[in-house]
Amino acid sequence: MKLLQGHLVGFADDGNFFEHRRGVLAVADGRIQDMGELAELRARYPDAVLTDHGDAWIMPGFVDAHVHYPQLGVIASHGRELLEWLTDYTFPEEARFADADYAEAQAEAFWDELVRNGTTSAAVFSTVHACSADALFRSAHRRGHRVMTGKVMMDRHCPADLADTAQSAYDDSEALIRRWHGQGRLDYALTPRFAPTSSPAQLVACAALWDAYPDVAMQTHLSENKDEIAWVGRLFPDAPDYLGVYENAGLLRPRSLFGHAIHLLPRERDAARAVGAGLVHCPTSNLFLGSGLFEFQQLLDAGQRIALATDVGGGTSFSMLATMKAAYQVSAMAGRALEIEPLWYSATLGAARALGWNQVANIEVGFEADLIVIDPAQTQVLNQRVRRASSLREALFATAILGDDRHVVRTYVAGA
Ligand code: GUN
Ligand code: ZN
Repeated sequence: MKLLQGHLVGFADDGNFFEHRRGVLAVADGRIQDMGELAELRARYPDAVLTDHGDAWIMPGFVDAHVHYPQLGVIASHGRELLEWLTDYTFPEEARFADADYAEAQAEAFWDELVRNGTTSAAVFSTVHACSADALFRSAHRRGHRVMTGKVMMDRHCPADLADTAQSAYDDSEALIRRWHGQGRLDYALTPRFAPTSSPAQLVACAALWDAYPDVAMQTHLSENKDEIAWVGRLFPDAPDYLGVYENAGLLRPRSLFGHAIHLLPRERDAARAVGAGLVHCPTSNLFLGSGLFEFQQLLDAGQRIALATDVGGGTSFSMLATMKAAYQVSAMAGRALEIEPLWYSATLGAARALGWNQVANIEVGFEADLIVIDPAQTQVLNQRVRRASSLREALFATAILGDDRHVVRTYVAGA
């Protein structure tokens, strides 16, 4: 048993922040086992080792709900909209993941970067190569991370060395599910890249595999870019709209995760909300690729389930703090500046719930012990700003806007 003392900050049942100054968490076997005052927990666990984090905040680790680990090497590639950016930078880099050793090295670098930024769990795209998903699962398992990933399914409109087929995508994905899904903290996510790179037959095969393994998740991209949407319209003339392509194939379910979802029509919004699918907002990517302004607050008001994500390498930072700042800025540009609670919630507990992880990313007994320690005093400006704040909400808002990896002074993954 380990005791962690600090200023505990999580979420109450009503979605507001819960706060316990100088509180103590008792952590063992990867979970929060107990919570209270130092004296009582000391008495209950006399042999436990205490780590005192002083006035720093102990908070839920961040959940990155959409990130491409194979794009770490092409982050910050200049000057293209989505479809050119994919062709010019992304596909050539992803081709390198046919090499299992390269995939392994990049997976390790990826987790190093997430941990430094306080991200403890993630929904991750691998490449079309099964060995790329193996590499990420293996490194996550070794390090104790909760993760979902899947091999990308992509059988057209891509370089020949990155193409699978409807049948091979089914077979390779099924083998990966059997190998990894449900092992420790690992989940499988069926990963058709997006409608333009999957034939109708591949989308239907993906849905058939989902019928066979109904407790896996599904992640893809949706309505990110105007040219992309027009292309989908030409490729699938019988679908009512972009989401309708996935829906017709049988891929709109509660554990569907749609990256971007910027330019949705009213029908698409209604259909996504009706099943409780997750919309995954990737603000630094949307700014970088000039994709558009996600209407976060308007969608929240309409009852959508929303998670926040970096979308590296379209996104420009692995930091969920930087991502919250960009989400706030995008929401302001989209006409409704977000409140602070949905910003933090969509980067932690809300994202976990959208991903189907029900005991992840809160400060609560029974929850998995993915925790970060945030110390605003690590930089002068944030330190001053937080000291002047008249409420925790105000201090957390300033931290979302001014915070970076320097303020994440400790990351605990499953208590370690
Ligand atoms: N749409 C299809 N593939 C991708 C990708 O790798 N990144 C982004 N941002 N959008 C996509
Ligand atoms: Zn993406």
